[in-house]
Amino acid sequence: MFTSFPLFPEQASTFASPVDELYLFLVALTAFFTLLIAGLLAVFAIQYKRRSEDERPGHIVEPKALEAAWIAVPLAIVVVVFFWSAQLYVSMNRPPRNALDVYVVGKRWMWKVQHLTGQREINELHVPVGLPIRLNLTSEDVIHSFFVPAFRVKKDAVPGRYNVAWFQATRPGKYHLFCAEYCGTKHSGMIGWVTVMEPAQFQAWLAGGASGMSLAAGGQKLFNELACVTCHRPDSQGRGPILDGLFGKPVKLASGETATANEEYIRESIVAPAARIVAGYQPVMPTYQGLVSEEGLLQLIAYIQTLKAPAGGEAPAAAATGGPKPRKDKARDPRAP
Ligand code: CUA
Repeated sequence: MFTSFPLFPEQASTFASPVDELYLFLVALTAFFTLLIAGLLAVFAIQYKRRSEDERPGHIVEPKALEAAWIAVPLAIVVVVFFWSAQLYVSMNRPPRNALDVYVVGKRWMWKVQHLTGQREINELHVPVGLPIRLNLTSEDVIHSFFVPAFRVKKDAVPGRYNVAWFQATRPGKYHLFCAEYCGTKHSGMIGWVTVMEPAQFQAWLAGGASGMSLAAGGQKLFNELACVTCHRPDSQGRGPILDGLFGKPVKLASGETATANEEYIRESIVAPAARIVAGYQPVMPTYQGLVSEEGLLQLIAYIQTLKAPAGGEAPAAAATGGPKPRKDKARDPRAP
């Protein structure tokens, strides 16, 4: 009977057991105290029942040891719960470095997935077993939530933001994927499947992809098509900041603040270039809002990540050799005005 109506989703990721253990501990703890308190309530109600109209209780002095115990014991319990869950939460939000990136865009009402190698899927995600997978999630309209119960993974896909979640599947198979945030009429239909494959099988699946163009190569193509390349030149003669070696570096802004050239900063620089202008540049870049899809933005970001600083310096050396307006700190190249 429980096979058709399982109490728990199956366990198919490395998070499944730890999450279930914590959850069961909380349930057991709650059940224990509920029963203890309800039981004592009944026992005391009978034992200390008022037996006659003129009965008066005697003066009571609380035993200090008992008072200390009911402060210390619950405190110890909640501290244990805090550290246990905090540690699990942190590990669920820190993908290992060797994780395989997958880019997910939520859209009413479907999940669009891109792999680094360029394969695209809709409402499907193919991953290898035993390898950590980092999901980079965003949305092109409203907030969605990527939820795979068998992996105990749930993360919001928020427009304008890149949220990260990760998991490592432990068993090949097909697992249900849901949208767990009400997003309109067909929210309940925003579902799909995660297919976990043996690594060799996964490689074969990747090889079978028709696209033939990696995520970064797709970004490069867009970069040329949108003529980004005319202003963002590698030789510091362009009107826009040099992008080579930019990714992950701090960027000095015209406002005096410093930003980190991460995914969100680059995305913002494309769709709202005036928001954070790089120090030394004019806000001349037009917005590309509406001209590039969320998937295209992900491709551009993947491409920019591949642009390495010229050999010989950690930061773009070209910038220091008399570009339009080299940044004062020996910078870190910036982005796009
Ligand atoms: Cu997307 Cu609910």
